[in-house]
Amino acid sequence: MRRKMPQRKKNLPMSNLVLGVCGGIAAYKSAFLASGFSRKGFAVRTIMTSSAGKFITPLTFETLTGEIVYTDLFDKNRLENHTALARWADLAVVAPATATTMARMAAGFADELLSAFLLDFSGPVFLCPSMHGNMLKKPPVKHNISLLKERGYRFIGPVEGRLAGGDSGPGRMEEPERIIKEVESFLGRGSAESG
Ligand SMILES: Cc1cc2nc3c(=O)[nH]c(=O)nc-3n(C[C@H](O)[C@H](O)[C@H](O)COP(=O)(O)O)c2cc1C
Repeated sequence: MRRKMPQRKKNLPMSNLVLGVCGGIAAYKSAFLASGFSRKGFAVRTIMTSSAGKFITPLTFETLTGEIVYTDLFDKNRLENHTALARWADLAVVAPATATTMARMAAGFADELLSAFLLDFSGPVFLCPSMHGNMLKKPPVKHNISLLKERGYRFIGPVEGRLAGGDSGPGRMEEPERIIKEVESFLGRGSAESG
């Protein structure tokens, strides 16, 4: 049976979006993001870290976006590599952004597909961190976040709220609808649904 692909608005500028998904418990929320951005007319290509694959499957994003999902820096069956994806993308959203991926970015690592893409890409990047509040307040994490801010990465969240394990506090990933609104507002778009 053929899948029904999301309908995309025609001729929208800045609408090629790479969604980076890392291995955090909030990875399930990225499915709502993928779906929401697609519904808003973005072409969404997802890059998942190998840890993200422990929380959610590529099939979920493939089905929701109608686009290939990228998981492997060394995939010989794909013509598109991290540099081709960086040329294709107008903007990138990393959600959830884990402590590990942000550390890789801060240190300039390119040892897996998402960080290699991010190192190559020159357009706007939105980071949506998610982690336990105890991790968030640790000096290396705080240092990496402020370094990335200084380098021009845009942060959405984290916010206070319920965390994994029944705790609550800062470190919760911002809600998908809010992330989409912030990205749209950055692009100077209204918040009308495309269908
Ligand atoms: C159940 C579970 C939940 C996790 N949630 C988070 C999280 O919310 N944020 C985070 O930074 N790391 C979290 N981790 C740890 C990451 O999965 C781990 O640091 C991993 O190396 C991240 O790799 P990535 O950044 O390449 O996706 C979690 C691990 C487990 C087992």
